[in-house]
Amino acid sequence: MKFFIDSAKADEIQYALEMWEIDGVTTNPRHIRNSGKPFLQAIQDIAALVQGTDKPVSVEVNPHLDDPDEMVVEAQRLAAMSPNFVIKIPATDAGFRALRTLHGEGIRVNVTLVFSAIQALQAARLGANFVSPFIGWKEARGEEVWGLVTEIMEIYRNYCYSTEVILAAVRNARQIVEAARRGVPIVTAGFDVYKEAFDHPYTQQGLRLFADFWDATPIG
Ligand code: E4P
Repeated sequence: MKFFIDSAKADEIQYALEMWEIDGVTTNPRHIRNSGKPFLQAIQDIAALVQGTDKPVSVEVNPHLDDPDEMVVEAQRLAAMSPNFVIKIPATDAGFRALRTLHGEGIRVNVTLVFSAIQALQAARLGANFVSPFIGWKEARGEEVWGLVTEIMEIYRNYCYSTEVILAAVRNARQIVEAARRGVPIVTAGFDVYKEAFDHPYTQQGLRLFADFWDATPIG
């Protein structure tokens, strides 16, 4: 299973690359805003962190765009900036139209803001490299999400689509584990989610206990 970090903060991404061997990065306009940097500066800094690796960095087109041709132009401009960049295109009619063109040009696309299996199917049909179902947004509204995830995985297997699911808006370790049980190839989660997920209070408690025994024992 691959772990991507959902962030545009260079310090978080660097830590995740060095300490957790993270496999890729996803950004969105909210993360860029939270980085405190202008858009182009933020994505260039991320590109520098993964330069020379094959780790993908998802970068979203301007969300105001609703014309497929304009989306394509913006996607081409972004894709030319780094070989690591994968272009995030929304799951809308305009987005799907742009996806078809970009796929034909060999520009990698992550179809974002996916909330239904049929959107994921359409994305795969048109050649998306990645598709991002936002499970956290659905769960926050009290919706069950694992039926959706299972359906998407089943559909992709049935037709041998090479589109990879990036489970997005992941909020906790349990969701990562549930995704892994269903064979989801990639999750993307924020820095704090991984930090909390990789730790366990019993591990810390055990360390303190063993440290006390260590201190009470002569080394020899
Ligand atoms: C995924 O690619 C998205 O950037 C992300 O998961 C969106 O969700 P969030 O910003 O609410 O976490």
